[in-house]
Amino acid sequence: MDRIRIRGGAPLNGTIPISGAKNAALPLMIASLLTEETLELGNVPRLADISSLLRILSNFGVDHMIAGRRPGETSETGQTIRLTARSVIDTCAPYELVSTMRASFWVIAPLVARLGEARVSMPGGCAIGTRPVDLLIMALEKLGAEIEIDGGYVVAKAPKGLTGATIEFPKVTVGGTHVALMAATLAKGTTVIKNAAREPEVVDLADCLIKMGAKIRGAGESEIVVEGVERLHGASHDVLPDRIETGTYAMAVAMTGGDVTLENTRPELLAFALDVLKQAGAEITSTDNSIRVRRNGNGIKAVDMTTDPFPGFPTDLQAQFMALMTKASGTSRIRETIFENRFMHVQELARLGAKIRLDGDSAYVEGVPTLKGAPVMATDLRASVSLVIAGLAAEGETTINRVYHLDRGFEALEAKLVRCGAEIERIKG
Ligand code: EPZ
Repeated sequence: MDRIRIRGGAPLNGTIPISGAKNAALPLMIASLLTEETLELGNVPRLADISSLLRILSNFGVDHMIAGRRPGETSETGQTIRLTARSVIDTCAPYELVSTMRASFWVIAPLVARLGEARVSMPGGCAIGTRPVDLLIMALEKLGAEIEIDGGYVVAKAPKGLTGATIEFPKVTVGGTHVALMAATLAKGTTVIKNAAREPEVVDLADCLIKMGAKIRGAGESEIVVEGVERLHGASHDVLPDRIETGTYAMAVAMTGGDVTLENTRPELLAFALDVLKQAGAEITSTDNSIRVRRNGNGIKAVDMTTDPFPGFPTDLQAQFMALMTKASGTSRIRETIFENRFMHVQELARLGAKIRLDGDSAYVEGVPTLKGAPVMATDLRASVSLVIAGLAAEGETTINRVYHLDRGFEALEAKLVRCGAEIERIKG
């Protein structure tokens, strides 16, 4: 298994191009199942999760074509993928496939909406918590699907098609909103989604569905209205920039010091997190499509933070922010309100010398003047990258095991950091 070795201490200086968002690309790819015509997606990041989903979609009979490189494109420029679900030959997503990536459960929505049936394995728990799918099932039931749980599979049937309804989510769920949106596009009549997730990835999905002929109003607000249509058609859409990757590099610069411009991104996608970073002592200036992060001389200040659904502070940046706070002056309280078990990075940060006390949904991080490199291991994607950030700011050498977590969600991580002066390398084997 590959490892990453970091020799910490160097400030980061330069520019980092931001990739397309993994968490937008996945539902967009799944939306290709809604039409027999071709959906062309641009700015798709080269990530293990994207390849896994392509394999899952191929299993249903979806053809895909990855466009070759064009002049001026580099290996860090996102790829263009054309997906065509002309005839879906299988409506079953087995455990072996769904268990590799939870988001693949979302295929249930387009399958039942377009073909009237789907059999999708329950995804099971994962490192950050139990992560149930009850609200996704509730949404499909409201739209008239008959749901049965059979041998670990969710079997959804709607032989006469789905019917528009009001779906009110008792808590904000990104996956639930994606599922409700996709299913409602082909339902008869009007669907109102209440307490919908307002995440930019939901807006990106809605924008693409609208290009495919869907009638959707209000994406990005907590009430979304969908007028069902008989069929959707092909379209071409570019995946929005990755706000989590953007925030991750911003935190890395805040922690190591230096001056980095993050390009091809949009500051409004992470306004809350950037504000918290400013409070912590980073200097941030933005244009429409770039963010410059600087920290020269001044130390990092402790800031309290609570994760919340968008537009609040994203749970997917909590671990990275905690890494930053390990070197702050003072103690910060970090509250995790989205997932109940998303503190697996705490013990590993402690191996680098961080002082963190856990109490229920909160971590109290008492800043220390220096971290010291050590071998560490991570259990999920965002936790792994928090260890990279901490390793970049630690004295000496840090080795990170289980690098495959990073490959799921950060395109060209080492290359992007090396270009800014980091000493980071992958050790094969
Ligand atoms: C998406 O997961 C993201 N995944 C996650 O990113 C992200 O952390 C999460 O949204 C929150 O922003 C993708 O987009 C692929 P939820 P999702 O449904 O949709 C509870 C990463 O690192 N809930 O918004 O699965 C759930 O347990 C990943 O890239 C139910 O109770 O998250 C959680 O407490 C990790 N019942 C809360 O809602 C349900 O049926 C929010 O989860 C569904 C969810």
